[in-house]
Amino acid sequence: MNNLTKVITKDGSISFRSEKFNENFHSIAGAYFETKNKFINPSRLKRFQNKSINVLDICFGIGYNSALLFENLIKELSRLNWYGLELDRRPLNYALSDKEFNNLWNPKVIEILNSLDSKGLYKNKNFDCDLIIGDARKEILNLPKEVNFDLIFLDGFSPQKCPEIWSYEFLSKLKDKIKYEGLLITYSSSAAVRKSLKNLGFYLFNIIPTISKKNRWSSGTLATFDNKQNNPYIAQLSEMEIEHLNTKASIPYRDPTGEMLSKEILEIRRKEQQFSNLLGTNSWRKKWEMA
Ligand SMILES: C[S@@+](CC[C@H](N)C(=O)[O-])C[C@H]1O[C@@H](n2cnc3c(N)ncnc32)[C@H](O)[C@@H]1O
Repeated sequence: MNNLTKVITKDGSISFRSEKFNENFHSIAGAYFETKNKFINPSRLKRFQNKSINVLDICFGIGYNSALLFENLIKELSRLNWYGLELDRRPLNYALSDKEFNNLWNPKVIEILNSLDSKGLYKNKNFDCDLIIGDARKEILNLPKEVNFDLIFLDGFSPQKCPEIWSYEFLSKLKDKIKYEGLLITYSSSAAVRKSLKNLGFYLFNIIPTISKKNRWSSGTLATFDNKQNNPYIAQLSEMEIEHLNTKASIPYRDPTGEMLSKEILEIRRKEQQFSNLLGTNSWRKKWEMA
């Protein structure tokens, strides 16, 4: 029930499938490919050359997003203050015993990942990293009050499989931890997630897909309070995406106690959708000629 099965994605990088969540950790197109295109490129890390940066990686998993972040920030001689939140120690531990995974990264990155795996932390002159194992909904409240983030990566399983980390209440905690000019980056284009972020006051941008195919309209969402963005990897939401935020799909996931089970969160939302007068998602799809 709680097994992780190795998956080799199309770019050759390894990933896992979680039996518990009944979902892969990455898109089959490529774990490394996804990290680079959906998280690292839109982060524009060159901005932090010789500067300090605070990063929060939620649902750290195997650690692809942060491994590529570390690799880039080492090159930029940045000073990094990093926190990773993750429920399960095994994905990183299993990946570190895999030859292909080790071959993907420079030795310095492997040294950091090994230290996070064995000690839960890594500290040197420029990097101060803590991997916190536990439910992100609780652990986010234990982060130092004075630390606000330049970047937050949100990379949980999809909202239908793991609604607890996409709830309005959890997203509002991210609002409290992000800097005004900070970027919250996720692969999700879910209307419920976007609408919650919008209602929390974030400006929303589409992460432009690298592969252009008819139904591939988004590679995710970048949310920020600073709407003056000069970032080639993002675009304003299209009319189609804005309309998506007025359909039943936009009804948020709610978790007021921060302790609800995923099935309870899903059931409350299903009932709210049932009685809602908003446009059905199928009508929206039909209008925009989506399968
Ligand atoms: C899609 S995978 C993460 C992919 C990841 N960024 C990587 O590079 O491998 C989702 C991760 O979220 C973790 N997770 C699920 N629920 C969580 C929770 N409530 N708090 C923290 N982590 C959670 C899972 O254990 C899993 O490792």
